Amino acid sequence: MGEERKRGKPLVLVASPFQGHMTPMLQLGSVLHSKGFSITMVHTKLNSPDHSNHPEFEFFVISDNFLAIDASANFTTFLEALNDNSKKQLQDHLARKMIEEKGRDDIDGRITIIHDNIMYFVEEVANNLGLPSIVLRSSSASYMPAFLALPKLHAKGHLPVKDSMLQELVPELHPLRYKDLPFNSTPTEVATEMFALSDRIRTPSAIIWNTMEHLEHSALTRLRQHYRVPIFAIGPLSKMVRCPSTSFLKEDTDCISWLDKQAPRSVIYVSLGSLATMDETELAETAWGLANSKQPFLWVVRPGSVCGSEWVEFFPEGFTEEIKGRGLVLKWAPQKEVLAHFAVGGFWSHCGWNSTLESISEGVPMICRPVMGDQCVNSRYLSYVWRIGLELEQLDRKVVVSAIRRLLVDDEGKEMRQRAIEMKEKAKYCLCNGGSSYKSLNDLVGFLQIQTG
Ligand code: UDX
Repeated sequence: MGEERKRGKPLVLVASPFQGHMTPMLQLGSVLHSKGFSITMVHTKLNSPDHSNHPEFEFFVISDNFLAIDASANFTTFLEALNDNSKKQLQDHLARKMIEEKGRDDIDGRITIIHDNIMYFVEEVANNLGLPSIVLRSSSASYMPAFLALPKLHAKGHLPVKDSMLQELVPELHPLRYKDLPFNSTPTEVATEMFALSDRIRTPSAIIWNTMEHLEHSALTRLRQHYRVPIFAIGPLSKMVRCPSTSFLKEDTDCISWLDKQAPRSVIYVSLGSLATMDETELAETAWGLANSKQPFLWVVRPGSVCGSEWVEFFPEGFTEEIKGRGLVLKWAPQKEVLAHFAVGGFWSHCGWNSTLESISEGVPMICRPVMGDQCVNSRYLSYVWRIGLELEQLDRKVVVSAIRRLLVDDEGKEMRQRAIEMKEKAKYCLCNGGSSYKSLNDLVGFLQIQTG
């Protein structure tokens, strides 16, 4: 195994400890390994992926003292600590690796680093060592123009957004409304810190985006003009190579046999990803909305995702009895398998970019309930541009019942499903010989071969 691994040109991939970022980085590693590169996956001790799932990689673990990611804590403080803690460890490791690689005739000690955008310290390390660095972006491309516009909107006094402005379109960011802007309610001081952090990535050699050219062409065009480095739109990464589970939490696979017993396209799958949380009232409205819809449902309630509780202690009285046989609540699902299952007719999602791409890849229409960051932008595109998602305007049990029935029972939902299936076909085509992601991956491979000498 070790011998075989050593043959490819060396790439070092630096992942971040967020599930929604780790997954595409591992997938990218598997894709590039299949193209003949030798992959070292660098990650923090916090939220370590399961090494045994990836015998094709070497791993380097950055030690840290983080216990968990606290979604309610100051995000920029956490990111700074994460980056500061990692810098010296990675630099020392790479310096050693460069000496090792120099011993090989064909390589000349040249390594290319691909890093998660959140791990911005890598750029400094790469510059210190004279190595090229490439950024992997795991959010949508359409989010970025909105994010880049924030400082200006902020300077004009448009942020945090006033209630009276929420429904208005943002000039130059069509089709986004002020309510779709990321961080639209973030207090001024926090927003300023965030803009400063995002400025840390200045000189990548290239950017890889987990997306498809046809899906986000206009945003990608804008970003190519902005960054002036090659941008490779390669996605959906989840469909490019068979990659074993990338989950930090154990996937409850029993739900698949439960799904096997349900009618085709009858189940609503509910999951808010790895970070989003809800309060007790939102939990109750979700629970009764699901129960009253009379449709079967599969609901992921991540441990700790209901504020102030370990898991489902705050379920409303009578709910568990009411849903017996019709609803299944679990801690973490094998999501890609669930979305591919014949029984799933809709996905109620927070619209994280991985979830969005996974739903598109399986032709599953969505109920969109974004919580933060790029999710509001994704939700707008899903509902208004691609028209395969229903915006859930209010987390109220009656509104939930109506949304579920519109999606799973009404003609409106059937039309959305038809469009979703067409998008699935286009996504498949993207990955075939001649498709845009296929070509873009080959371009990236060529680019990496030049970088690694
Ligand atoms: C975060 C951001 O929220 C997201 O918007 C950004 O684009 C990437 O980082 P997250 O909130 O976790 O990610 O959402 P998402 O991007 O959808 O990623 C969640 C991943 O966890 C998906 O790959 C999904 O398949 C997986 N998942 C989720 C499971 O495997 N099982 C589950 O039960 C729930």
